[in-house]
Amino acid sequence: MLEIYKGKKIFITGHTGFKGSWLGAVLKHLGAEYSGFALAPNTQPAHYEVFPTCNHSVIGDLADFPLLLQSLQESQPEIVFHLAAQPLVRDSYKNPVYTYQTNVMGTLNLLEAIKNTPSVKAVVIITTDKVYENKEWEYPYRETDELGGYDMYSSSKACTEILTNSYKRSFFSQNDRKIYMATARAGNVIGGGDWSTDRLIPDIVRATAGGTPVFIRNPKSIRPWQHVLDCLYGYLLLGEKLLEGNEKFAAAWNFAPHTADTRTVAEVVEFAQKNWNEISVTLGQVPDNYHEAGVLKLDNSRTMSELKWKPVWDTESAIEKTIEWYKAFYINNKILTDIQIAGYLEKKANNS
Ligand SMILES: NC(=O)c1ccc[n+]([C@@H]2O[C@H](COP(=O)([O-])OP(=O)(O)OC[C@H]3O[C@@H](n4cnc5c(N)ncnc54)[C@H](O)[C@@H]3O)[C@@H](O)[C@H]2O)c1
Repeated sequence: MLEIYKGKKIFITGHTGFKGSWLGAVLKHLGAEYSGFALAPNTQPAHYEVFPTCNHSVIGDLADFPLLLQSLQESQPEIVFHLAAQPLVRDSYKNPVYTYQTNVMGTLNLLEAIKNTPSVKAVVIITTDKVYENKEWEYPYRETDELGGYDMYSSSKACTEILTNSYKRSFFSQNDRKIYMATARAGNVIGGGDWSTDRLIPDIVRATAGGTPVFIRNPKSIRPWQHVLDCLYGYLLLGEKLLEGNEKFAAAWNFAPHTADTRTVAEVVEFAQKNWNEISVTLGQVPDNYHEAGVLKLDNSRTMSELKWKPVWDTESAIEKTIEWYKAFYINNKILTDIQIAGYLEKKANNS
């Protein structure tokens, strides 16, 4: 399972963030080494610091092209996973220019650096389920649906998709410089070790650990929630196909729970309360009233049938594992990352 990564040189942008630090932990578990490029963690605590795994970390900004190019060329990777981004919808209303600078121009800098780094054979660019023009309907979005974005985060990620595709066709398709590049669109990712602001589970956990009720702003919103390990396994599987030089996979892929398992915010809170009695909730509106999508579902059928990826943990199990991680952290001062990775991979092996 994912043996291809053993001994491979891997470069991760955003390795200090929630998903990037878990990706590093999974790669370490698989016996791989990786180099990372990102800003210093901006939460306290941070998963990257409580469970450090990076072999060679550069703290830098995607806007700093010379440093990015130097870091990439020094690490000589075969594969790049690009996760660094300004990833929050509400922050994108407050900082639209920074959001575009990081998500669009930052990706452009990375692609240009990759163009100038001959070792790179494969690239996985992480975007989001929010790249689709949201019609607020019940149907799950498919990879062929129209791109769009009401807010600056969503539209910046849709631009990232277009930029990636354009780079692929313009520069990475020639036989003398073939790079297999794909984009990955995942749903709302949950797991231990995320302390970002304005995200449901981190908000719940922070409030509960501090002994206060959590303020829930949109209880009826529907999202495709999934555990970070299901999402990362998908990225790694995709990376494996690209490293094998399989052109068919150099495309856009959705990673999401089954449509029937798409849940409201209120249901997620309820599942969380089942696992942590102390969670208490206040419902209400926030004064700034930024627009956020009401219904968002993602179709995983193409990823299931062609990439042979499927979720291992349904939403309820994903929440259980997530709350288990935080309780171990706050109550027993334990980090469950490695144990959960081992449990996940074992279940995956038995399921496939
Ligand atoms: N968490 C989710 O639910 C979710 C869902 C879909 C897609 N995504 C995408 O997954 C990726 C990772 O998200 P996350 O949840 O781990 O976010 P995060 O905020 O925890 O991590 C973001 C990472 O990007 C780095 N970064 C931000 N701005 C940078 C800059 N200017 N230069 C260099 N590095 C910079 C940060 O240092 C950090 O390492 C993002 O691309 C995000 O859009 C996340």
